[in-house]
Amino acid sequence: MNIKYLGHSAFEIETNGKNIIIDPFLVCVPNYKPKNIYNIFVTHGHGDHLGSAIEISKTTGAPITAIFELANYCAKKGAKTIDVGLGAWRDYSWGRAIPVPAFHSNSTPDGEYAGIPCGFIFEIEGQTIYHAGDTCLNSEMKVIGEMYQPDIAMLPIGGKYTMDIEHAVKAAEWIGATVIIPMHYNTFDAIKVEIDDFERQIREVGKVPHVMKIGE
Ligand code: NI
Ligand code: MN
Repeated sequence: MNIKYLGHSAFEIETNGKNIIIDPFLVCVPNYKPKNIYNIFVTHGHGDHLGSAIEISKTTGAPITAIFELANYCAKKGAKTIDVGLGAWRDYSWGRAIPVPAFHSNSTPDGEYAGIPCGFIFEIEGQTIYHAGDTCLNSEMKVIGEMYQPDIAMLPIGGKYTMDIEHAVKAAEWIGATVIIPMHYNTFDAIKVEIDDFERQIREVGKVPHVMKIGE
């Protein structure tokens, strides 16, 4: 398995030659070309998460997995979709995934109601990966830690719209993952952080900060 950071909250995960992409807002990687995309996951309808999902679905034929209302919006725009709700695993050709609660707002770029926002837990090649989407610190993270025991967690740390570093460190403890990948920071001024602070504070709670370079 290979995890590539595409900037902001966007990741591509490769497993046995199949790629999945999460929250494909691709302004940080203008030369990125989606290849072998099997599935697209979108945590909520904000532009910095929905990003190029509809376009990628149309060009690759890969379906977008999203909460019911957002999936319906994507389908109306011509994307293939898999509509889901919180609470059940879904099997894919490369593993399985479950949407989990995220505490945030949610609307489509047209201002339509987009259902609730979510995060996703992925089981791929025996590893459990949690992508938190946009969220504040919340007690569901204790449930996530107990139920799914993630190995790797991708957590927003930019503050203002989501958790900041201080809250993300507490989230890391509750979730229990060993490796913490920061996201949703330094893309624009409103979410600027000192990434050294994140690395230091995550190490202080006995976890491994993995700050990924864009395109890495
Ligand atoms: Ni958002
Ligand atoms: Mn966002």
